[in-house]
Amino acid sequence: MPRWEAGADLVVVGTGVAGLTAALRATELGLRVLVVTKAGAEQGNTRWAQGGIAVVLDGEHEPGDSVAGHLGDTLTAGAGLCEEVAARTILAGGPAAVRRLRRRGAIFDARPDGTLARTREGGHSAFRVVHAGGDATGAEVERALLASARDGRLTILERHTAVDVLRAEPVQVGPRPGSAVSGLLVLDDAGNLGVLAAPAVLLATGGLGQLYAATSNPEVATADGLALALRAGAIAADLEFTQFHPTVLYTGPQARGRRPLVTEAVRGEGAVLVDGAGERVMTGVHPLADLAPRDVVAAAITRRMNATGTGNVYLDATRLGPDTLGMPFAQRFPSVHAACVAAGIDPAVDPIPVAPACHYACGGVMSTVDGRTGVTGLYAVGEVARTGLHGANRLASNSLLEGLVGGERVAEAVALDLGTGLADGHRGPVRIGNPVARIADRDTLQLTMSRHGGIGRTAAGLAAAVETIGAVSVDSLLRTRADVEDAALTLAAAVLLDSAAARTETRGCHVRYDHPATDDLAWRRSIAVRLGADGR
Ligand code: SIN
Repeated sequence: MPRWEAGADLVVVGTGVAGLTAALRATELGLRVLVVTKAGAEQGNTRWAQGGIAVVLDGEHEPGDSVAGHLGDTLTAGAGLCEEVAARTILAGGPAAVRRLRRRGAIFDARPDGTLARTREGGHSAFRVVHAGGDATGAEVERALLASARDGRLTILERHTAVDVLRAEPVQVGPRPGSAVSGLLVLDDAGNLGVLAAPAVLLATGGLGQLYAATSNPEVATADGLALALRAGAIAADLEFTQFHPTVLYTGPQARGRRPLVTEAVRGEGAVLVDGAGERVMTGVHPLADLAPRDVVAAAITRRMNATGTGNVYLDATRLGPDTLGMPFAQRFPSVHAACVAAGIDPAVDPIPVAPACHYACGGVMSTVDGRTGVTGLYAVGEVARTGLHGANRLASNSLLEGLVGGERVAEAVALDLGTGLADGHRGPVRIGNPVARIADRDTLQLTMSRHGGIGRTAAGLAAAVETIGAVSVDSLLRTRADVEDAALTLAAAVLLDSAAARTETRGCHVRYDHPATDDLAWRRSIAVRLGADGR
């Protein structure tokens, strides 16, 4: 039984860009908001984002650029699976969202004339990525939002792990049938279960990079929100589209866990990919060469590594200096420079060893652009959500943007739904039990996913992955944060592998060596998943 209880109108799970933006806006709208995070508030994925925020700012854009141009690039990168209306809505909301973020105190890099500095990344036809601290945009966004949260006395329960979404007894609420959300079951850092009673729960938990042995994501990126939503009856889609960032610093085959990102903006400023023999990797592969969309570059690097039997290629940034950047490399890219120096690499002299690593979940919990899922009272925003913006491959630097725009919109949706009684989860009793879930050994899971679930999948490999992970999985009570994370990763692996096996074509981030062609006739559609009554 729970040892403690608290209540709010809205419980937000996660303290990255999407969660904090939503919590701040909901507070402004008069809602009582509680924010929970399983780690420290600043330990999420947002602070690691480097390149920036893709946005076409009124009066501060490249001549000829427009939201329509940004939309066109987003749809091209998404390889036929973006939802155009959703994408247009989110991108058009960008300028206002960035203005609000600046009003909350975020400071972006500016040019001498006072306009915002802009860079370019893969798949963008214009210089429209605004940035902060050179290549530390996420850190500045997180700093500003957390400072606003602390100024506004937003209650953040740190080191509290979301275990299960609680549901009231089934009732017909508004137009959507089924039982409404009535709160969140949470584990505190002493291992005690508690209940946060609320008619609205917002999942802003980020991604799932820790499914793989190498990732740009921190250790908290364990698919928690996806698992919470699926177990609560929500639908998820596009899960096979795991995005691999082409250029994550390579520090040897044994390195595990988070690896430092080498932002695409380094290529945006002119660095090029070469193999060990100095041959260009992207020549002849795509008209945009080194600035092709991310899926194309990551797949080309993987092909070159396979052909040369190596674990990495190189990013040659040796000619980027004051002449090309207008400032020293270390000043324009301080995070990349520091990571290189820590690994004994001087980017002015040495080509930077890089390899693709898991970076972003393009799919997730099916949500509207206002964060509504199919479960009354359950909302999702940011990386955990699948709004249709990303399709089969997210365009670079559209993620912070989606978090900002979606965070504002979902807060407004929750306020509206609570006002009209649509998310009134207090109508039925709350059923609380200790959840039991499948848990796989994490090492085996990560190595298996990297071997068979990365770039270059086959039916045989995917089946082998299911078998291997199944063999090291057991049913377990969720008693600790590690149990909750392992259960989430295990469930995420299962649904991802199923979706990847079903999609018998190559599209965007989903590369099938046994089905190398894109099959628009059969597969220009999303694959949606929902758990059965037995929770599997
Ligand atoms: C990067 O800076 O290369 C990453 C940006 C992103 O993932 O959108």
